[in-house]
Order: sequence, then C-alpha cells, then structure tokens
Amino acid sequence: MAQQSTTATRRVTLTVNGERQTLDVEPRVSLADALRDEAGLLGVKLGCEHGVCGACTVLVDGAPVRSCLTLACRVDGRQIETVEGLASGPALNELQEAFRRHHALQCGFCTAGFLMIATELLRENPHPSRDEVVEAIGGNICRCTGYFNIIDAILDASASTNGKVHSE
Ligand code: FES
Ligand code: FES
Repeated sequence: MAQQSTTATRRVTLTVNGERQTLDVEPRVSLADALRDEAGLLGVKLGCEHGVCGACTVLVDGAPVRSCLTLACRVDGRQIETVEGLASGPALNELQEAFRRHHALQCGFCTAGFLMIATELLRENPHPSRDEVVEAIGGNICRCTGYFNIIDAILDASASTNGKVHSE
C-alpha cells in the first residue's frame, strides 16, 4: 500500500528579488532549500549546511543571513535578495564586474555568498577600508582564491562606483 505523507506544509509568501512568491513548504525546510527547490534559484549554494562556510548567504530585509540555518517559515513576509537579483538582465552589476576583472573566483562555489556579503557591506559602508572589507568577509570561506582578489574586487567596486553599487 502506498504510504501517504503526513507532514503538513505551510504557505509562505516572500518577496524574492522584488517579486512576490508564494511557496508551500514543510516547517522543517530551510530557506536555502526553499529558494533552490521551490523557487528555482540555484545561485544559492549549499556548502557545509552548518552555518560555517557562508556559501548560502542571502539578504533578508537587507541583512546577510545563512540561508542553510534559517527556516523558510521564519522569514514569511520578508524581502529576500539572492545573487540572481544583482544583474540587470545579461548585464552584470559593478560588483560582479569587479569580481570578473580581478579574477576573484575560480570554481565559483563561494562567489554568490561573497557577492551578497559585499553588497550589504557597500550599502552600509560605501567606502570601506581594506581592514573593513577583510572583517566583513571574515565569515565566508573560499578554498580557491586566497581571498586577496576578492578583497581587491570589493575595494575596486567601491572606488569605481563611488560606493554606489547597483544591487536591486
Ligand atoms: S552552506 Fe550555509 S553556511 Fe555553509
Ligand atoms: S572560488 Fe572556489 S571556493 Fe571560492
């Protein structure tokens, strides 16, 4: 006899990259899984799934959040920003262009998380010092680049846009 699922789903309404989305998710589902599996936003990467690596970082009401540790139900009604919301159509934004110019990615698995952390940093502090950039990205792990190019890219984006990085 076929087994029936007894887990109830809950309806969650999010504004994701400016678009309202209604998702039906089980209470145990993380925001990362909801964004990837229900909303199709595969730019949200899952590395450690334990809150350590930062690959899954998205912005919730403008603040960086580890989406692997956040339940989708807990952010019902909130504004979510993911890496998919940074570019305007095919055109990369200034921060993404700076990452490209500075070779700030190799495998790219960590990149969405760094871009979202840097987006929030440059909104809050349009002209960060090198030390402030280092501190801001300190919770995100990159296994490829050695971090220097990521730091240079963020500083370059800040300088080349006079701190006004387009991000929405
Ligand atoms: S996947 Fe969320 S912090 Fe590593
Ligand atoms: S570019 Fe590979 S983990 Fe950062």
